[in-house]
Amino acid sequence: MENFNLNSNLLESTQYINSITRIKPKIAVILGSGLGDFVEIIKNRISINTREIPKYPISTVVGHKGKIIFGKIDKIPVMIFQGRIHFYETGNLEKILYPIYIAKEFGVKILVVTNAAGGINRHYKPGDLMLITDQINLTFENPLKFIPKQSYNTSLYDPNLISIALKVAKSNRILLQQGVYCGVKGPSYETAAEIEMFRRIGADAVGMSTVNEVLLANALGIRVLGISCITNMSTGILPQKLSHNEVTEVAKLVNYTFSLLLTECIRTIT
Ligand code: HPA
Repeated sequence: MENFNLNSNLLESTQYINSITRIKPKIAVILGSGLGDFVEIIKNRISINTREIPKYPISTVVGHKGKIIFGKIDKIPVMIFQGRIHFYETGNLEKILYPIYIAKEFGVKILVVTNAAGGINRHYKPGDLMLITDQINLTFENPLKFIPKQSYNTSLYDPNLISIALKVAKSNRILLQQGVYCGVKGPSYETAAEIEMFRRIGADAVGMSTVNEVLLANALGIRVLGISCITNMSTGILPQKLSHNEVTEVAKLVNYTFSLLLTECIRTIT
């Protein structure tokens, strides 16, 4: 395996970031494919290209920007990770977990993970937002192998944050589905048979991110809220084929509703 010394890398990365901003964010947001418009509402933003940050893993996927944005929503200091790196890009779990470790270094207490996902639940439609209530990890990876703490995760996704999100959605008349997110490695989209299997074991949506990051955040004592943007119906659920373009196009269309939901959740949490 490639030489990847987590602690010394984190030290170099955080020293660099600290030389640019002294902000101490309490909330971190990881933005999924095409959901980048949200950053427009951040006041006094300081944007750092992840390529500038020593030891920071780089993303290669189209539509991914690779930035960390620091700033405030109202008076709340936040850090936003735009352009996550996927497991299939490097095959290295520690690289996809890097933002979580960085967030922990900065003292983040709440993590909002967002992603683009394929809808498996037949009541969903492209453009829906889904509050993640639980997850199925089918990546066959587990980040807890890197840290000693092992506990039973009765609720990986924080119940209080879930109820806040539901209230916010209701009062802003945002349709918010609730469901189980199934995380796979990718990079190929699933077959119809795989989707049927995921449906039978209880998945409502499928995507290629998030599950390992959430396991780690939870083990590090960070409370997690998860929101999926259903960008397409999964293979076999509808007759037409999937493309990455469709995923980013639909995500762009829901940006407004998504940003509203996220902002109002952050305002209500604090
Ligand atoms: N499958 C896996 N990942 C995805 C999908 C999908 O259909 N849509 C967006 N991310």
